[in-house]
Amino acid sequence: MPLVTSKEMFEKAYKGGYAVGAFNVNNMEIIQGITEAAKELNAPLILQVSSGARKYANHTYLVKLVEAAIIETGLPICLHLDHGDTFELCKSCIDGGFTSVMIDGSHYNFEDNVELTAKVVEYAHSRGVVVEGELGRLAGIEDAVNVSDEDASYTNPAQVQEFVERTGVDSLAIAIGTSHGAYKFKPGQKPQLRFDILEEVERRLPGFPIVLHGASSVIPEYVETINKYGGSMPNAVGIPEDMLRKAASMAVCKINIDSDLRLAMTAAIRKYFAENPAHFDPRQYLRPARDNIKELVSHKITKVLGCDGKA
Ligand code: G3H
Ligand code: 13P
Ligand code: ZN
Repeated sequence: MPLVTSKEMFEKAYKGGYAVGAFNVNNMEIIQGITEAAKELNAPLILQVSSGARKYANHTYLVKLVEAAIIETGLPICLHLDHGDTFELCKSCIDGGFTSVMIDGSHYNFEDNVELTAKVVEYAHSRGVVVEGELGRLAGIEDAVNVSDEDASYTNPAQVQEFVERTGVDSLAIAIGTSHGAYKFKPGQKPQLRFDILEEVERRLPGFPIVLHGASSVIPEYVETINKYGGSMPNAVGIPEDMLRKAASMAVCKINIDSDLRLAMTAAIRKYFAENPAHFDPRQYLRPARDNIKELVSHKITKVLGCDGKA
């Protein structure tokens, strides 16, 4: 089974009222934990690589690790570039074996976003690769994504049809109130998503797959463990799971999860060292970290995404 694009995955997910998980990968343990869970549950899978992950782990290592996961699991896996910010980065990933790329032109004005996205689509489609675009800006801070609350903006549904028609993108990320990282709402703020915007986008683009970034739930159990064992993450809060389930039953076909993976791994490692302060063999603390990732991804697949048995 070679790498696949997300085209068929999204068609089935849209019709079936579920979403496919897009998990960020940075190393072998993360890839193993995610793919072992997906294999057990026969779930379709998107593994995504940010430019930061590519710098950290090296393009070839990540591609080969994902290819190894396909051999081990027999699952259809889509390998996706997360938040590509230039044509050159997208081209490099397309030439280097990725089956899907995101060109994130959301920080440009509409016309410049259309122009850049259309250029990536033209290159990608002629090589059998699919493209995700973005309209609207999510708040949050990651390696390559740094948007203040004031600069964030919801997607304007009146623009989506023209954007999709003029660019030819295969899926569209929209901003409805999610944000990147582990601090998605201010202390005391009630978590809320603009389902009215999602509904309007769905009405204007019937059958078209929508993507939700910044969709970690920042699972309280992990935050509590981190804080219990020497960490300090006060006020960490994510998207409630019932909201993600609702989005998955609507036009959202791809749900991006990175922060929850980081928290699962960090919680396991902090706990391990608190209980075994003299240990120093990386296999000893990376094993529970990998197990936690597997448990987290099983939970996401069955309780949030609803894509178990759909591979
Ligand atoms: O949305 C961004 C992802 O969480 C990737 O984060 O750029 O720190 O690898 P990163
Ligand atoms: P989280 O920070 O909510 O996990 O979002 C990840 C993401 O959107 C990757 O593109
Ligand atoms: Zn994102």
